[in-house]
Amino acid sequence: MNMKPLVIGNLKAKYPIIQGGMGVGVSRWRLAGAVAREGGIGIISTAQIGYDEPGFDKDQIATNLKAIKKHIDLAREVAEGGVVGVNIMVATKNYESYVKAACEAGTDLIISGAGLPIMLADYTKGYDVKIAPIVSSLKAASVILKMWDRKYKRTADFIVVEGPRAGGHLAFTKDQIEEFKESDFDNIIRDIVNYIKEFEEKYQRQIPVIVAGGIYDQEDIKHALSLGADGVQISTRFVVTKECDASEEFKQAYINAKREDIKVVTSPVGMPGRAIFTPFIKRTNQGRIPVKRCFNCLEHCNPKDIPYCITNSLVEAVKGNINNGLVFCGENAYRLDKMTTVKDIFSELVF
Ligand SMILES: Cc1cc2nc3c(=O)[nH]c(=O)nc-3n(C[C@H](O)[C@H](O)[C@H](O)COP(=O)(O)O)c2cc1C
Repeated sequence: MNMKPLVIGNLKAKYPIIQGGMGVGVSRWRLAGAVAREGGIGIISTAQIGYDEPGFDKDQIATNLKAIKKHIDLAREVAEGGVVGVNIMVATKNYESYVKAACEAGTDLIISGAGLPIMLADYTKGYDVKIAPIVSSLKAASVILKMWDRKYKRTADFIVVEGPRAGGHLAFTKDQIEEFKESDFDNIIRDIVNYIKEFEEKYQRQIPVIVAGGIYDQEDIKHALSLGADGVQISTRFVVTKECDASEEFKQAYINAKREDIKVVTSPVGMPGRAIFTPFIKRTNQGRIPVKRCFNCLEHCNPKDIPYCITNSLVEAVKGNINNGLVFCGENAYRLDKMTTVKDIFSELVF
């Protein structure tokens, strides 16, 4: 069996590998551009994308919206014609303006999770952009596809199915994550592959299914494809590359992490997340860390109630202040033991 290109409407990536969006600042133009150049799909995360721009302290949203164009343009310069997209979390404050800014900046596609992106189909009307929800169950897939069909007479251009071994926020409870068996996720993938056939028929086009969460080697990719998926989304592996946009310290934290250092943690987003157990996480377990200022990241966030400020802790981490930061990672991060390049990852994974 050889890998087939990933075809999403009129877009074509040589290999069916999407590099998942990683906020804050972990996947920006350097990583996304390099992945696109190697024949995958490079994804820029818009989550506080402008955190290191001069205007950020005064106006986070306006600065982020400007930075979206900057990073898409720069990614395209290195992508050599490859496919470049963005990841926008549904929970983002002013979600609509982020979606529109990405469309205006000419993104090829938008992937949206951490909630169901009901409004994405509306906000992208009139733009030539592909859209995909991230789902973790057949129920979520059915809700979003039925809603888009009924309200907007539109379907997804592809769909990302994310399992509990992923990094960042997870759409499972802590108990579900502990009790989850590999075969449970296989069944979710099979069910969604079958379910979307109805929409493929109705809209007379393919809706590729992309599997995310814990994809590490060729065997994992072959397994996902054997379940009927069309491609994979990989994030954790791309962190320990020269091209990843995070600091050296962030990458080193992955290299140093042992299996027992990777934990499911509580996040102000209201979903569990997977991260490295840093001294910061230890402090959050001991009590609330009062929020000093608000960075306008989440739509439904009350700084007085949350356990800690997620923007502050993610910015600290990406800049390299690991002890004071939240370092999201997938379950497999402990397997990474040396720095590599995007090119090397592709030569290892492609078959
Ligand atoms: C550091 C990090 C940051 C992430 N940030 C986001 C994000 O902002 N939005 C999102 O939808 N997913 C985010 N994710 C999830 C990934 O995009 C991806 O779907 C998942 O981690 C895939 O599993 P893997 O890391 O085992 O390959 C993040 C993951 C990591 C490791």
